[in-house]
Amino acid sequence: MDQSLPSPGALLLQHADYGHLLPAAHGLIKEHTTQTHAHLLSTGAAMEALAKKFGGDPATWKVAGMLHDLDWDKLEKDYESHCGNTLEQMLQTIKAPAELLADIRAHYAEKYGAEYPLDSMLRKCLFCVDELTGFIVAVALVRPSKKLADVEIKSVKKKLKDKTFAAQVNRGQIGQCESLLGIPLDEFIGIALEAMKGIAQDIGL
Ligand SMILES: [Fe+2]
Repeated sequence: MDQSLPSPGALLLQHADYGHLLPAAHGLIKEHTTQTHAHLLSTGAAMEALAKKFGGDPATWKVAGMLHDLDWDKLEKDYESHCGNTLEQMLQTIKAPAELLADIRAHYAEKYGAEYPLDSMLRKCLFCVDELTGFIVAVALVRPSKKLADVEIKSVKKKLKDKTFAAQVNRGQIGQCESLLGIPLDEFIGIALEAMKGIAQDIGL
């Protein structure tokens, strides 16, 4: 890690600022995603709501959420290449600042954690909410109506306890909201769920 970087505490106070890229982010999603489209819009909406909760810039946080898996469709689930050169090239087309790529890489903590640690609230939120938005979609899809409107916090919590349901979802990552963000799981689920309900029509749920 670059020793010239400020301490983690100082970084926590730093405000990422690339909200002006919001229209461009919509353009990139349209151009590069099909399968991942709903996940990116969901995560963007959830991040926007989390910014309001934690005092970040809503447009900036939304952009990070919207673009965090931008390369996923193109890579065809090549997890090793995720957040690598392909993503970097895509972001260059909209002249994104290095900070956006860094914030996105931070969410792939397993690979990039040493280089891009979870040292800002934006990064911590993106890391925790990434698995949650996907999980909430899975919960909606097993409701008789298949609608987000029929999903409640308690139904999400119940499904989280059922380890056979959406087994690929990392429950631990979601649960870290309590230690990393300092908010109870119920509140974290509630924020993401409400945000997703707000864009339900856009994602067909
Ligand atoms: Fe994701």
